[in-house]
Formats: sequence, C-alpha cells, structure tokens
Amino acid sequence: MPRTEFIATGFHVPERVVTNDDLATMMDTSDEWISQRSGIKTRHWVSDGETGATLAREAAHQALARAGMKPADLDCIVYCTCTPDHFEPGNGVFLERELGLRDVPALDVRNQCSGFVYGLSVADAWIRAGQYRRVLLVGAEVHSRGLDRTTRGRDTTVLFGDGAGVAILGPTDDPRRGVLSTHLYADGRHAEKLWVDAPGLAHDPYISEELIRAGKHRAVMDGREVFKFASVLMPQSVATALKANGLSPADLKLLVPHQANLRIMEMVQKTIGLRDDQIYMNIQKYGNTTAASIPIALHEALCEGRLGRGDLLVLTAFGSGFTWASAAIRW
Ligand code: COA
Repeated sequence: MPRTEFIATGFHVPERVVTNDDLATMMDTSDEWISQRSGIKTRHWVSDGETGATLAREAAHQALARAGMKPADLDCIVYCTCTPDHFEPGNGVFLERELGLRDVPALDVRNQCSGFVYGLSVADAWIRAGQYRRVLLVGAEVHSRGLDRTTRGRDTTVLFGDGAGVAILGPTDDPRRGVLSTHLYADGRHAEKLWVDAPGLAHDPYISEELIRAGKHRAVMDGREVFKFASVLMPQSVATALKANGLSPADLKLLVPHQANLRIMEMVQKTIGLRDDQIYMNIQKYGNTTAASIPIALHEALCEGRLGRGDLLVLTAFGSGFTWASAAIRW
C-alpha cells in the first residue's frame, strides 16, 4: 500500500492587517492584555468581495503552481472550515467552482481547529486505498465577519483571524516517507465550552431577532476550560503519535501545533520537552485561524527551511467539540 506525501503547500491571508491597537479602538482592550495572554500582535481580516472560498482559491493556486499542476489535475477536494460562506451547501463546492472544476468530489469537514488533521486522516485513507491520487486538502476560515467587535465579545474576538492554507496530497511508493499515522479524538461533553449556538435547527425558528439580540450567533468560549484541556490533550496526542511509531521527542524535527494561543503552545513545548527549534509558532502574525492555522504554519516553516526530506514532522490540534488530533509524517 502506498503512503501519502505532501506534494505542495500554499497559503493566503487577506491584505487587511488588524493590530491590537486597532482592536482597542473598537472595544475595551489593549495591546498589553492581548500580547500577554495570547502572544498575538496582528491578524488579517477580509475586505469586501473576499470570502472563505476566494481565500482558499488563492492558496490553492499557489500550491498548484509550486507542484507544477493545474486545477484539472486534482481529483478530490477536502475542505475544512467552521466558518462556511453559507449555511448550505458546504464550501467545498464553492471552491470547486472557483477553480473551474466540475465532477470532482468535494467533502466538507466540520471539526473546527482539529479540522485539518481530521481532513488529513480522511485524505490519507483514500490515497492509501487508491481511491484518489491528487487530493486538495484545505483549511480556510473567515472569522472576522462573525466576531462581536464590541467589549461584550472581547475575550474571543481578539484571538481569531482569517486565512487559508492548503496542501496537495498524493501517493508515494517510498516506504520511508509520507504520513505514518493519524490519531483523532472527540469528547462532546464539552461541546458548549466553545461554540456558536445559532443559527441552528435545534431552535425553532432556527434564526430569529431574539437569538441575534441574545448574541447566540457569536462564538462564545469558556477560555479557562479550553486552556486547561488543550494544554493537556495536545501533548498527549503528540506522545501517542510518537509512541505509535516507536519514536521519541528527540526524533522530532518539527512540531507544528494548531496556533491556538502562544501560552498553550509554550505549555505543549514544555510538557513534551522540546527545544525552541523543534516547534513552530506564527500566531503572533495571524491569530488563531482555526482549521487554517496548521497549513499556514506548515507552509511558512517549509519556506524558512525548518523541514527537510526525511525529517519527522508531527501535527497536533485541539479545538471546539472538544476535538483533538495528531499526525506523524516522515517528510
Ligand atoms: N481585553 C481586556 N480584558 C479582557 C479581554 C480583552 N480582550 N478579554 C477578557 N478580559 C478581561 C475579563 O473580562 C476579566 O476581567 P475581570 O477580571 O474584571 O472579570 C479579565 O480580563 C481576566 O479574564 P480571564 O478570563 O480570567 O483571563 P484569562 O487569564 O483566563 O485569559 C484567555 C483569557 C481567553 C486569553 C485564556 O483563557 C485563554 O487563552 N484560553 C484559551 C483560548 C483559546 O486558545 N481558544 C481557542 C482554542 S482552539
């Protein structure tokens, strides 16, 4: 059975940069509070005309160019987002249309910050089974239009940003390389600790002025609980990925964690016992871009030469659900 390799990556963020000082003009917050608690300095927000699908399209074109491929060479799209452009259908078909494709299957993955690793697991299974040979795996989010830009929403609004990251995946016959394993987890007991209640068909009607007035269409988060679980479960998922492959932290060239919060990533680093050069962090520039954060970070790490052929890469994610996941990859 072949393994799955990353053929090329790409990313795209909107041009508009929003600084912590910009946020302080909209709500009662400060650069000091945001920097100390999250490490974030800037994030990107979409402007008129930009959507999740257009961000993903730009990232996809970049990866296709790096791979020397055309959209028609793709035979499947796996699109991971928790901020779809529309309630229905999912964003996969909108991206397919943006890429000028027809007849290519488009799967939508709704696993929030763990979306990219969940999507990787599905794409990896399809590629190893021989069902698809060229899979475009996308993580893309537009948070900014859903954020409460008043003081009421400050605990979540300051953390999230917009962006898209993609990977083109395909089979390799080199037994020493590719995705070694993926490990997925979920615990729905914590579903309401980071969620957007409405619109939702649990409500009748599923959207109403009353729901909007109550702010039910905004992301709400129990930040302390999220922090507590993330800083335990992310290192645990990395340990599982290493153990499953008979490896140890010393073997790790690079850990690319979901960029949730600088303090969470520092806890992860400390718990596993990694040197600074073994973990990649770019949350300072982009904030938390949910399903896009890992592919954006991976792309930047590659551009900076942090990963070479044969190196061991581990991905780990944690987010709303709670869901969490890891993947071990021999580059
Ligand atoms: N600016 C200024 N003050 C803020 C603020 C903001 N943006 N957001 C909240 N505050 C205030 C609170 O209202 C509170 O004020 P009070 O003490 O007068 O009630 C105070 O700051 C402290 O709030 P608290 O929630 O105790 O802060 P914290 O130290 O737990 O930090 C988070 C809050 C959100 C930064 C932190 O819990 C966290 O990082 N959680 C994980 C979030 C995350 O990663 N989510 C994504 C997961 S995928």
